[in-house]
Amino acid sequence: MAGAFLITGGTPLNGTVGVAGSKNAALPMMASALLTDEPMVLDGVPRLTDVATLCRVLSELGVAAAWDGAGAGPSRALRLQVLDRSPVRARYALVRRMRASFCVLGPLLARRGRAVVSLPGGCRIGPRPVDLHLKGLAALGAELTLAHGYVIARAQRLRGATVDLSGPAGPTVTGTANVLSAAVLARGETLLRGAAREPEIVDLGRLLCRMGARIDGLGTDTVRVRGVDGLGGARHRIIPDRIEAATLALAAVATGGTATVTGVVPGHLAAVLDRLAAAGVELASGADWIRLSAPRPLRPCRITAAPYPGVPSDVQAQWTAVMALASGRSMVRDRVFPERFAHVPELVRLGARIGLAPGAAVVDGVARLSGARVTASDLRASAALVLAGLVARGRTCIEQAHWLDRGYEALDRKLARLGAVIERTEAALPALG
Ligand code: EPZ
Repeated sequence: MAGAFLITGGTPLNGTVGVAGSKNAALPMMASALLTDEPMVLDGVPRLTDVATLCRVLSELGVAAAWDGAGAGPSRALRLQVLDRSPVRARYALVRRMRASFCVLGPLLARRGRAVVSLPGGCRIGPRPVDLHLKGLAALGAELTLAHGYVIARAQRLRGATVDLSGPAGPTVTGTANVLSAAVLARGETLLRGAAREPEIVDLGRLLCRMGARIDGLGTDTVRVRGVDGLGGARHRIIPDRIEAATLALAAVATGGTATVTGVVPGHLAAVLDRLAAAGVELASGADWIRLSAPRPLRPCRITAAPYPGVPSDVQAQWTAVMALASGRSMVRDRVFPERFAHVPELVRLGARIGLAPGAAVVDGVARLSGARVTASDLRASAALVLAGLVARGRTCIEQAHWLDRGYEALDRKLARLGAVIERTEAALPALG
């Protein structure tokens, strides 16, 4: 459903809020269900439209996907099991809707010896090439051809090799997931150099090991895989969503509130917490929680979005929105996606003063933002608009709110629990001028 968020800004957010399981951990794990005929159960999978889309892709690939029980929250489990190994095609209509569907390529090829997967195409955060995915699979012996917008891949049995996964912007996260999920069934040893270090990749590796894979070096840029002949099923609880955690933390900080975000791994947010401290936020943390108390205004400070353990590119837009009210000039760079600034023109409509330079935004803090009608575009740009709406004077209407459902489970309800004046409407939108 498209829908819109109606927000009346100005209320400091206070209280406690929990985060869901990680979208970017769940997606490649779901794809790895293709590697075995036994059941896989993933605990803590968030109810997101991206998860639903991948369930459709997997269903067309012969995988039964079902939610265990009617439970909500972290106890909910997603059960996946291959029932038919003959389908090998992931079609464009679905892959273009959710590019991480491209992660089925590696497991399909490794388990079924053949895969026909649509190229994902680009999106608003910039060109999204997959050359490193293909280079890695070719190094493992895959025969790859591109035709009619599809990758056609074949391999009797993949063979271990040394693969370099880093590109001009650093490692590729889903590229590492794709090649890692193929190498586990290759004959012999594979060395993944320039591998992504993201917690989501570490979590995927842990699941694969539970299934019987032999992987060392997870979390470093050199991952060693000793191929096995087959993998079994597994049950695994996915890690918390560090991007949702950062988004909720920034919502409290933007509004000058005091909030506790629970069910997190603070270590996954170290770079973000470092920047929050630089901006003057008082921080405390425990085993699975962080508490933030924000002054008004925040101090301006620089961030550069970079591969893990740097500040995630997926937090850059939200950070830009928060710096719109800081007491001075901030620089926001994005080394991962230098074009990821689609949120800036909409933030400017809300009264922010932001200039753009190649791969960077220059944010001059203002005393206030003013509510307006804005349109969501991509997932994290939409989150930035929500944060801006929470502090803007008056009412903000964010149209096309369905973008948020891709990566945030019930974000409006979570923010409302912290005191935000926010509602979701499917009705005809009120005239806001
Ligand atoms: C993953 O995307 C995440 N998605 C993205 O989150 C995240 O922004 C991104 O990693 C960076 O952290 C999932 O995990 C499902 P990349 P991915 O391959 O894997 C270049 C969100 O909002 N590159 O790590 O597609 C690429 O252009 C989403 O949750 C190549 O050059 O990103 C970029 O500059 C958005 N060739 C850099 O590498 C390739 O073959 C990192 O991209 C692949 C990537």
